[in-house]
Amino acid sequence: MFITFEGPDGCGKSTILKEVYEKLIDLDISAIKTREPGGTRISEELRNIILDENNKELTAVTESLLMAASRSQHVEELIIPAINEKKIVLCDRFVISSLVYQGYARDLGIDKILKLNEFATLGTKPDMILFFDVTEENLLSRRKKRNTSDRLEKEELNFHKKVYKGYNYIKEKFQDDENFYIVDANKGISEITSYCISIILDNYRR
Ligand code: TMP
Repeated sequence: MFITFEGPDGCGKSTILKEVYEKLIDLDISAIKTREPGGTRISEELRNIILDENNKELTAVTESLLMAASRSQHVEELIIPAINEKKIVLCDRFVISSLVYQGYARDLGIDKILKLNEFATLGTKPDMILFFDVTEENLLSRRKKRNTSDRLEKEELNFHKKVYKGYNYIKEKFQDDENFYIVDANKGISEITSYCISIILDNYRR
C-alpha cells in the first residue's frame, strides 16, 4: 500500500507520519517511511538544490522540473520496489504538493503539473492520500514555534497565503476521490494518529 501525507508547512503531517510508522512496526506490519523531495541519495541531492536558500534565482519552471526529477528517481528506485515487496509505504508529500506549490502558488497551472507528474511517476498513484486539513490560524501559530527555514519556508507571507488557498482548492477538487481522506489536523497528536491508524488498517485488512 502506498500512502501519502499532504498538507501545508506546519500542518503536523511529519510528526504524525512518524507516530503512524512506529505504530505499524509495533503491530509487526512491514512499513517504510520516506519523504519528498528526497528519499533516495540522488533525490536528496536534488532536495538540497531545491531548498538551498542561496538559490534565489531558481525559476518556477526549473523548480517544478527538479521536484518531478526527484520524484521520478524516488518512485522507480524506492517506492515501486517497496510496494512490490508488499510493504506499506508512508510518504511525506507527493504529487498534491506539486499541484499546490508549483501549479497553484507559482501559477504554472494545475493541469500542466499533473501531466508532468504522470510522466515522472510512471502513473504511480497513492492508495490513500491523507490530506491534513488545518485552520490558517493554527498553521501560523505552529509555524512561529518552528526554527527551521529553507528557501520555500522563507517565501513571503503572500506566497504562504496562496499555498493555503491552493490546498483548499485541491480539497474541493479531489475530496470525492475514493483514495482522498481528509484528516482534521486541528486536533491533538494522539487523536490524529489514532484516526490515521484506523483508516489505514481498515484499508490494509480489506
Ligand atoms: P518539507 O518541508 O515538507 O520537507 O517540504 C519541503 C518544501 O518543498 C515544502 O515547503 C514544500 C515544498 N514542495 C513543493 O513545493 N513541491 C513538491 O512537490 C514537494 C514534494 C515539496
